Amino acid sequence: MKRIYLDNAATSWPKPEAVYRAVDRFQRQLGAPAGRSSYAEASEVERMIRSCRKKIADLIGASDPSRIIFTQNGTDSLNLALHGLLLPGDHVVTTVCEHNSVLRPLRFLAERGITTTYVPCDGHGYVGPEAVAKAITPKTRLIAVIHVSNVTGAVQPAEAVGRIAAERGVLFLLDAAQSLGHVPINVGSLGCHLLAAPGHKGLLGPLGTGVLYVAPGVEEHLIPIRQGGTGTRSDEDRQPDSLPDRYESGNLNVPGIAGLEAGVTHLRQLSESHILANSRALVQRLLAGLTGLPGLRLFGPPSGADRVGLVSLNVASYDPQELAAVLDANWRVQSRAGLHCAPRMHAALGTSPSGTLRLSLGHFSTQDEIDSTIDAFTEICRS
Ligand SMILES: Cc1ncc(COP(=O)(O)O)c(C=O)c1O
Repeated sequence: MKRIYLDNAATSWPKPEAVYRAVDRFQRQLGAPAGRSSYAEASEVERMIRSCRKKIADLIGASDPSRIIFTQNGTDSLNLALHGLLLPGDHVVTTVCEHNSVLRPLRFLAERGITTTYVPCDGHGYVGPEAVAKAITPKTRLIAVIHVSNVTGAVQPAEAVGRIAAERGVLFLLDAAQSLGHVPINVGSLGCHLLAAPGHKGLLGPLGTGVLYVAPGVEEHLIPIRQGGTGTRSDEDRQPDSLPDRYESGNLNVPGIAGLEAGVTHLRQLSESHILANSRALVQRLLAGLTGLPGLRLFGPPSGADRVGLVSLNVASYDPQELAAVLDANWRVQSRAGLHCAPRMHAALGTSPSGTLRLSLGHFSTQDEIDSTIDAFTEICRS
């Protein structure tokens, strides 16, 4: 039976052929570190890293590629943003929809005198911008908001939140883990000061890659939470201030970035409207096929609403973990079950403690795979 991979919200798979080739070529033929040496292979690596930064900057509408910081994953990017920025006495406005990679750093920082307000969401998982505005206090330094929910697929009103942040003079961190590569993003029109994302999900790079975009001026407030060798200004024991070195200490994950460069190149060959239209068509097909099946409950925005290719559901009398195991064992439909690292979201949806089963589509998902998945659920629900 063919594998039907619907766990792309965790990490995308398969990757474009060019990604496999780029990683293989780096490992077998280049094998040089970035920013440290000048022989031919090292120079090629340097050019590739520059190209990757530039392509990601272009993708999000950032004019200066040195503002794209390479990290290990989305969590690492969010940790740099939160730990690097927040000081005792600061207040943060965030939402109940956030992933643990925001919730846990904020919980940790609470012990250092940083307070947080969690804005609620509606029954579909949408956060109202008015509620975000209401939660701002004179001490608010940061608004941290998930762009697309990894539980319901709801696209949050990031542009409206960005306007509120600008009006109130507050910094805005956008968690684009489930949006970058899936929905068009322009950091200028969203008004975001920091954008955190993995490289291994919608950007189609390998695991172990991530990025943080830092808007002009923000680096003055964002301390580097790691220090070390950068291959630049080696005579000084002080961390360099220049970007991206300020935040990129130690050897980079060059094989990962080689793959990421190829992934982003592939993505840019597909138009944003094609990606959106394809994922919308597939998710509508999936929702239409699942709606009304006996005992099956769908969560998140209704069909046709602002959402990405991600669907959460439960089937009566099945624990989500058991359902995931049945789907995999009998139909090779590979999903994820549980809380998806978003415990407050499940409390809001009333799906704690078992959570939901999540089907997340990727750039390579096909209509046939969606139809086979619908057939599998039809059999489960009717048996
Ligand atoms: C919304 C959201 N934020 C952050 C992350 C963390 O990303 P990573 O797995 O790359 O650390 C995820 C991962 O699933 C996510 O869905």
